[in-house]
Amino acid sequence: MDEFITLTYNGKEIKLPVITGSEGEKAIDISTLRAETGFITLDPGYGNTGSCLSAITFMDGEKGILRYRGIPVEQLAEKASFKETAYLLINGRLPNREELTRFSVMLNDNSLVHTDLKAFYQNFPRASHPMGILSSMVNAMKSFYPELDTLEEEINITMTRLLAKVRTMAAMSYKISRGHEIVLPRPDLTYCENFLNMMFDTPVRSYEMKREVVNALRVFWILHADHEQNCSTSAVRMVGSARVNLYAAISSGIAALWGPLHGGANQAVIEMLTAIQKDGGNCAKAIERSKDKNDPFRLMGFGHRVYKTYDPRAKIMKKMCDELLESMHINDPLLDLARELEAFALKDPYFVDHHLYPNVDFYSGIVLRAIGIPTKMFTVMFAIGRLPGWIAQWKESMDDPKWRISRPRQIYTGSLKYDYVPIHAR
Ligand code: CMC
Repeated sequence: MDEFITLTYNGKEIKLPVITGSEGEKAIDISTLRAETGFITLDPGYGNTGSCLSAITFMDGEKGILRYRGIPVEQLAEKASFKETAYLLINGRLPNREELTRFSVMLNDNSLVHTDLKAFYQNFPRASHPMGILSSMVNAMKSFYPELDTLEEEINITMTRLLAKVRTMAAMSYKISRGHEIVLPRPDLTYCENFLNMMFDTPVRSYEMKREVVNALRVFWILHADHEQNCSTSAVRMVGSARVNLYAAISSGIAALWGPLHGGANQAVIEMLTAIQKDGGNCAKAIERSKDKNDPFRLMGFGHRVYKTYDPRAKIMKKMCDELLESMHINDPLLDLARELEAFALKDPYFVDHHLYPNVDFYSGIVLRAIGIPTKMFTVMFAIGRLPGWIAQWKESMDDPKWRISRPRQIYTGSLKYDYVPIHAR
């Protein structure tokens, strides 16, 4: 039976439909509100605003649930390949063997990067942040790959190109930053192996592929593959809603992800842990600082807009981090510090009352360090993992016949009308 919320204003009753999601979440459809009442809603930061209907990812922030297309992320992290997960997100279901082979061939065939793109990398100032470079490069890709005849063909090839080439471009930028020769992708390696090989193989020392490292990268990317309407995904959808090309939409997602409150938190966590370590490893002091409203310091890798319990991704990441470091015989003092900081925070009444728990970024940096990824590239790693999600969300919005250009309104609080004053009279 259809459900409504009745709003009474000035003696007039307005019935607003209730929308119920497949997991029972409820929303009030306010799309007729302004026409019927002249009012808009105000929700800074969109904490109470649903921007779309989506069948891609389900999150329950109270229970700590995350599922891609219905499948629990725990199962995917344990059993799936990153490629399968990307296929699942974009196409809505797991591929059969034949579809997966076709997808792998497509990714392999598109994994080379136009050599002229190399010149772009070489001309960025040395100190440029890799996320700024990546965002610009993805936007630049549009000029390198001319449009195909049909829109369907163009969309399919662009999605594949992005998944295949961004990984190559990320490794390429690392090699160029070190002044080393670029290592090309190889058809005999898996998606994760290929990235590691392009990053770390050199003419003087072949990269030794370790099973646990490949697995760690697979899990890292799966855990980052989608997270419904977060800041960067909303950026992709919003920019995409102007019907801009997919490269430009993804480029805007990368720019949003760069922020330290979002994907940039993985770099910020390591920087924070290093600073605490230099300060004598005083966790209590860091916790106190993070609670002080006059101090801009926050505990990076803690808190989440949606999760009010332990982030399910962080749970998997923490376990994987422990296992990886143990199997590689790495003793990282930052891991000990992170554990200590977590224990302090989880006991602290402020953190308990505010429901602040570690998020995915808290332990991910330690995993990436163990793999050998330089700190400045951490958020690029997040971006590669998030690509399938951004693409799936963009595609869903493009396929939605009701999708309109995103155009929020505002409540104007500026000056009332006054007349222009010529410069000599000011
Ligand atoms: N350290 C200390 N206090 C915090 C923290 C933190 N990390 N996070 C939130 N709070 C406090 C905040 O001060 C506020 O307190 P009060 O209500 O007393 O004023 C309350 O908790 C709510 O915080 P908020 O900023 O209104 O929450 P939000 O939903 O707008 O922000 C967040 C979410 C993730 C941006 C925030 O928790 C944060 O800045 N965390 C640190 C950065 C971080 O780890 N980001 C990665 C997020 S997960 C990966 C991703 O999806 O990108």
